[in-house]
Amino acid sequence: MPIVRTKSQKMCADFRPCPPMSHESAAIAIGPSVLGSAAVDQTVLAAATAATSDSVKVNLNINGRKYALDVDPRVSLLDALRERLQLTGSKKGCDHGQCGACTVLVNGRRINSCLTLAVMHEGDEITTIEGLAHGDELHPMQSAFIDHDGFQCGYCTPGQICSAVACVKEGHANSDDEIREWMSGNICRCGAYPNILAAIKDAKNKLHT
Ligand code: FES
Ligand code: FES
Repeated sequence: MPIVRTKSQKMCADFRPCPPMSHESAAIAIGPSVLGSAAVDQTVLAAATAATSDSVKVNLNINGRKYALDVDPRVSLLDALRERLQLTGSKKGCDHGQCGACTVLVNGRRINSCLTLAVMHEGDEITTIEGLAHGDELHPMQSAFIDHDGFQCGYCTPGQICSAVACVKEGHANSDDEIREWMSGNICRCGAYPNILAAIKDAKNKLHT
């Protein structure tokens, strides 16, 4: 199923990439600037720590490796990947399902990892951008993005490539319009869309020959 976007979302008028914020960094950001007290800082940090006392175990299979984690049940898959496993290829753009920067493959299907909880993926096969290459050999989609300059700043690129791999595999890359429609959940603020389209068409030909 394509990720349905409003026209304004497709035009990425409100897309603002921002760095991920951990509990600790959030507490630091809130403490000194707003509350201005070391004692209050400790309270905020204690609260953040207390939230993890309800952690649950989950076994994740990511890029062919198994990981056993104790996570807060409210932790998104994206935050588990980035902040617990240092798999920072998947990016946090909007953190609420609008930009596609966090796209990963779960059992071969593309999903926004910011919109799903880590604990929901016990036993699932998860592939991130780090898992597409075979050693030093890039996935054909990765090579095609390089060959066609399918990026500028590169922030959206891991999500674009994961989504493009699934788009071709789903059989939704048979025309320019079809690719545009089925890639519409992945926003590129730099507007590299013509090059992304060219890369996907090139990779599709290579994957099917
Ligand atoms: S970070 Fe934007 S859709 Fe997940
Ligand atoms: S957002 Fe910069 S390359 Fe797509």
